[in-house]
Amino acid sequence: MGYKKRIAVLSGAGVSAESGLSTYRDNGGLWDKYDPMDVASDVAWKQNPGLVLEFYNRQREKLKAVRPNEAHRLLASLEDKYNVDIITQNVDNLHERAGSTRVLHLHGEVTKIRPENTCNEADAFSEQYVVDCGYERVVLGDLAPNGAQYRPHIVFFGEPVPKIEKAIDIFSAADIVLIVGTSLSVYPAAGLYRYASGRTPVYIIDPADVPARDPRIVHIRKKATEGMLEFCKMLEEE
Ligand code: OAD
Repeated sequence: MGYKKRIAVLSGAGVSAESGLSTYRDNGGLWDKYDPMDVASDVAWKQNPGLVLEFYNRQREKLKAVRPNEAHRLLASLEDKYNVDIITQNVDNLHERAGSTRVLHLHGEVTKIRPENTCNEADAFSEQYVVDCGYERVVLGDLAPNGAQYRPHIVFFGEPVPKIEKAIDIFSAADIVLIVGTSLSVYPAAGLYRYASGRTPVYIIDPADVPARDPRIVHIRKKATEGMLEFCKMLEEE
């Protein structure tokens, strides 16, 4: 077995769009319908936790009804020939369900919960507190063994991003960077590709313009499924 090149992938809501999940910032996206400050922020959790829980109950229900698409599957199949790490901003589980084995969820996972008193960086993603709730509803009064209310295992706006250091290490070591389906508008995730070393090619798959200016960027202006096919072809021709 020779050296397998390392591909660092940053994925966003666009990769799951063709599965039927809404993106956040497109027309008709989730943040058109809801103000993230009301349903996905640290302040919202303090002021109206019931509404926040309902918002994520609804996301769980939607996730249960959809399946991975060809883009998720092609990303998983890259593992045959490459060392692939997927850093996803998505809180869905479609990369895992498509077969990807190394998936780092920067913004948490909707199918998981943890006690509300685990919000500092050290505790927030500590395996000992995080519980798999699958697609079940979680309501006020659902308490952890330590007596604290369960909250979504989500990085709310206003909270630190505990896994960012690990993600930076992965991007720093990448031979190839692939960014798929993200508007690159939320930091620190949006800045990750800049940690890749000087000559590392950076591919972007997105039908729309994205705010990234870098001579290394090859923009494949297509939806994720078609764009992934083109990306895989480009890799074969490398
Ligand atoms: P956005 O909704 O901001 O961006 C989605 C991107 O996907 C846009 O650039 C679209 O052009 C693109 N897109 C739409 N359909 C596509 C398709 N079929 N194939 C490929 N691309 C497509 O979503 P994110 O960038 O993922 O955070 O948002 C980042 C974070 O903001 C999320 O993780 C979430 C949100 O607030 C939290 O909830 C903490």
